[in-house]
Amino acid sequence: MAILVTGGAGYIGSHTVLALLERGDDVVVLDNLYNASRESINRVEKLAGKKAVFVEGDVLDRECLRELFASHDISSVIHFAALKAVGESTRLPLEYYQNNVSGTLILLEEMRNAGVWNFIFSSSATVYGADAPVPYVETLPIGGTTSPYGTSKFMIELIMRDFAKAEPQFKAIALRYFNPVGAHESGEIGEDPTGIPNNLLPYIAQVAIGRLDKLGVFGGDYDTPDGTCQRDYIHVVDLAEGHLKALDHLKKTDGYKAYNLGGGKGFSVLEMIKAFEEASGKTIAYEIKPRRDGDLPAFWADAALANKELNWRVTRGIDEMMRDTWKWQSQNPNGFR
Ligand code: NAD
Ligand code: UFG
Repeated sequence: MAILVTGGAGYIGSHTVLALLERGDDVVVLDNLYNASRESINRVEKLAGKKAVFVEGDVLDRECLRELFASHDISSVIHFAALKAVGESTRLPLEYYQNNVSGTLILLEEMRNAGVWNFIFSSSATVYGADAPVPYVETLPIGGTTSPYGTSKFMIELIMRDFAKAEPQFKAIALRYFNPVGAHESGEIGEDPTGIPNNLLPYIAQVAIGRLDKLGVFGGDYDTPDGTCQRDYIHVVDLAEGHLKALDHLKKTDGYKAYNLGGGKGFSVLEMIKAFEEASGKTIAYEIKPRRDGDLPAFWADAALANKELNWRVTRGIDEMMRDTWKWQSQNPNGFR
């Protein structure tokens, strides 16, 4: 039996495929390479000393899914494939709903047709919406999202909940990620954004390597200890391990459930810059800019439920996140290219 990983050539997907191969699982990766390189899977296979099956294809392509389920014995699906840029989603809402929501619907329909019932989904802390009190805990209502991206994740969680109510065989876990950063400790795989990075750590790393001049810090006048936004950063390898724990948990559970995957502590933008400087020995030029539309001042996870039920917790701190980001970026100044 194999695990199907959609979006498995991407940032979080590649680290999860590596962790699965390392523990001996068979893996089929489905990725349309829209935001990834085939090279990431080559490197994963080299690190693991084991091959994955790679299918270049789209979750929107029903025929491709049918053929995939017919030709491989799939036990479970981990569904990463999505568009993920919050700002872009406000300009391209139809593309985001089509890729994320329709893509998931088609995947679930073809899973049902093939009799595959185990499903892990990449959700996000954004499903808690703008007014949720911190720390975010799973008992809070979800919704009130502020971008088509966030709404697409919220809608998919509702679809999972309703499908699990209607179909007793369907077992599903939504993992609500906080802010994934870092890279595999080998420095062989990591985050490789196309164009100018949207996210903080890839931006800082590209300033350090000299690809970008200066970081803009979005807002220095928030009601936070140093005036900059606070986020719950989580090492991508800890996050990948959370998927393995969630897969194990599916065997002992029914229905749909959501878990926060975060470290439970907020770090400010300025703290992140300082930590990166310490890890890399580089000075990061920055200037305070106006606030970015849609940013929330501060949020972090209450991760007690995942600690208790999934037996999962973060084991890597800010120092490892920075060390591994820098190792990846300095060994691969141009990413996978
Ligand atoms: P990523 O862009 O690196 O990975 C997504 C992968 O999916 C890419 O390899 C892309 O080529 C592929 N893909 C996209 N649409 C596809 C389609 N229709 N068919 C097949 N493949 C497709 O992003 P990531 O950071 O690894 O994120 C993985 C998942 O985690 C996404 O669902 C994202 O929304 C979610 N998430 C990410 C973050 C974050 O900050 N990185 C935070 C919360 C949730
Ligand atoms: N930031 C800057 N300058 C930059 C980029 C970011 O100051 O150039 C700041 C932002 O204002 C924010 C913090 O750094 O305060 C983190 O920003 P990111 O863009 O890295 O991350 P977000 O918290 O905005 O969003 C991320 C993912 C979403 C996900 C969300 C919650 O991009 O997909 O975390 O998990 F939904």
